[in-house]
Amino acid sequence: DTLAHPNAYARASETAQHVLSKLPDTLQKPKVAIVCGSGLGGLADTIEAGPKVELPYETIPNFPQSTVQGHAGKFIFGVIGEQKMPVALLVGRAHFYEGHTMDLVTFATRVCKVLGVETIIVTNAAGGLNENYRVGDIVCLNDHLNLAGFVGIHPLRGPNIEEFGVRFPPMSDAYDLDLRRRVHKAWVKLGLDQQKRRIHEGVYAFLAGPSYETRAECRMLRMLGADVVGMSTVPEIVVARHAGIRVLAFSLVTNMAVLEPGARGNDSIIQAMNKSELDQYLGKGKANHEEVLEAGREAAKDMQALVKQILSDLHED
Ligand code: HPA
Repeated sequence: DTLAHPNAYARASETAQHVLSKLPDTLQKPKVAIVCGSGLGGLADTIEAGPKVELPYETIPNFPQSTVQGHAGKFIFGVIGEQKMPVALLVGRAHFYEGHTMDLVTFATRVCKVLGVETIIVTNAAGGLNENYRVGDIVCLNDHLNLAGFVGIHPLRGPNIEEFGVRFPPMSDAYDLDLRRRVHKAWVKLGLDQQKRRIHEGVYAFLAGPSYETRAECRMLRMLGADVVGMSTVPEIVVARHAGIRVLAFSLVTNMAVLEPGARGNDSIIQAMNKSELDQYLGKGKANHEEVLEAGREAAKDMQALVKQILSDLHED
């Protein structure tokens, strides 16, 4: 079932209590949580030497168990930056396509709320739809299309959990403008190589997965105004906004979606191609999981630096 668990608040509180019982005083009050997407677990390296607690998801009561390759699951508590800001890192996340309910997909977000987290930074690997994007670019999300939500796959379906928020939460300004401004500031300050990687603002389309999009679906998403497409993030953001958590989200463009039509039996250009031309034409831009992980490895360091810079900027206030 896709319904929210009626005892979601009690269960999140129980889990938060367990987590707190494992943390020293210095780590008890993380104000910021960071969700690390596919191949972006390297963000955990930004944690300073000092107090640090790692809790594998399988040891945490009520937590979903992650199943995807390259998505090791653990909750890490530590401090970041010279200011020793306490943070919570979620390395690996539960996806809807794994078979988890939306309730479980967003459970960790709710635990963060109970822990007192005020700002959540969500990262993911996504396919680029915007023709100006390139593999390795970073997209700061400024909006989303909750396509799965349109057909009822929505984390807030079911009785409203009043302890978290209202029945009909607005989503019109889900992506915090102040945080987005800080991103651009941080990007300039870091002076990263513009040839290698650029930053954009864009719209993320959420699909349930697990298959990648067809060519026609990619064209449809582009027409709908999406700049990137992926299989995560939006459920967590909806639940975070419901609970009044400030949201910042990044997509790493790990592959470009194919917008060109494929081989159609009646297409004279396709008919005229020999086998190797046709293989090349059809192979171009086909998404695969390995490529997604590889782009993640290369870009993780810049993404890390960016997040760290934003945190230090936040701390200065
Ligand atoms: N489509 C959907 N999800 C993705 C993609 C994609 O092309 N790349 C990484 N995650």
